[in-house]
Amino acid sequence: MKETNLEWEKLSFSYVPTDFNVRCTYKDGKWGEIEVSDSEYVPMHIAAACLHYGQESFEGLKAFRGKDGKVRVFRMEENAKRFIRSAEGISMQPMPVELFCEMVRKVVKLNERFIPPYGTGASLYIRPLEIGISPQIGVSPAKEYMVVMLVTPVGPYFKNGFNPIKVCMSREYDRVAPKGTGSIKIGGNYAASLNAGQKAHELGYSVMLYIDPKEKKYLDECGAANFFAIKDNTYITPHSESILPSITNKSLVQLAEDLGLKVERRHIPIDELETFEECSACGTAAVCSPIGQIDDIDNGKTYRFGEEGKAGKITTELYNKLRGIQYGEEPDTHGWCEIIDFD
Ligand code: PLP
Ligand code: COI
Repeated sequence: MKETNLEWEKLSFSYVPTDFNVRCTYKDGKWGEIEVSDSEYVPMHIAAACLHYGQESFEGLKAFRGKDGKVRVFRMEENAKRFIRSAEGISMQPMPVELFCEMVRKVVKLNERFIPPYGTGASLYIRPLEIGISPQIGVSPAKEYMVVMLVTPVGPYFKNGFNPIKVCMSREYDRVAPKGTGSIKIGGNYAASLNAGQKAHELGYSVMLYIDPKEKKYLDECGAANFFAIKDNTYITPHSESILPSITNKSLVQLAEDLGLKVERRHIPIDELETFEECSACGTAAVCSPIGQIDDIDNGKTYRFGEEGKAGKITTELYNKLRGIQYGEEPDTHGWCEIIDFD
């Protein structure tokens, strides 16, 4: 039996073993049955395409134990659709939306005892991944694929939780190429971001804020999260083909509109940072992480936002609204949550 005496409130964003994962293989031109496994390992051919040529994509979504005791999964069809785009972006076999959702429901149900209780601030992180598994020595796509979904209970992504983070930016680090793979969620993008992340940590920052790789003039995204800013009652977020279209950001855009804010999706010149009232990173793992300070480490320029150590008013409102919907405290007026049926 895996650990059950978890201190839910103390969880960070790291791997905790759970009971089961689910798997599905594409072979001979079709997807097979969903298989349940209690192994934490994937046996693999030494020449598997994922090992040599990086045919790997993944997703990240969450299940929440609500105030009413029900378990809600947030916008899984959106993840399913992005999973298809990622597969297509690196010539892998896309998994149909309904099969993806079936796997999510199954893996959540099988690991019910690892869904953190309501009120602990924690949630169950669901991590689907797809890999090319057939042997491939010439550079071409695999013929066989496997999708694995694992779950792990998680707490906050940044260790200060909802307290403002300090981030840095530099023209010396690109996460992706201008017409590259930035808008899909593939492992290679994250491998390419590790040095920048390490550099940011070494210098005492939570994360690197990437600048657009083509012109080096505009803000792109913030580590493994999108970026948004607030000024003049407007929610402003980058329009860029080198960032991942975040489902959290898309949801916050809707919530901002619901709150009566204007929304602008456009290029954000670096200099405009001087004019922002609030800034934040957003994503499934990051949720809404207010940014208190951005340092341009190439020229020593510092941008500060709001009152020191405090999240901005609108960021807080958006965060509370989003969390409220996910934990079943607020009406789900946009139909974003699926309640898992445990009967
Ligand atoms: N940008 C990158 C590079 C990410 O890895 C993520 C995480 O998934 C996001 C943005 C946020 O996307 P989402 O809100 O869909 O989780
Ligand atoms: C997520 O927000 O789900 C992510 O995938 C971020 C990350 C830990 C890579």
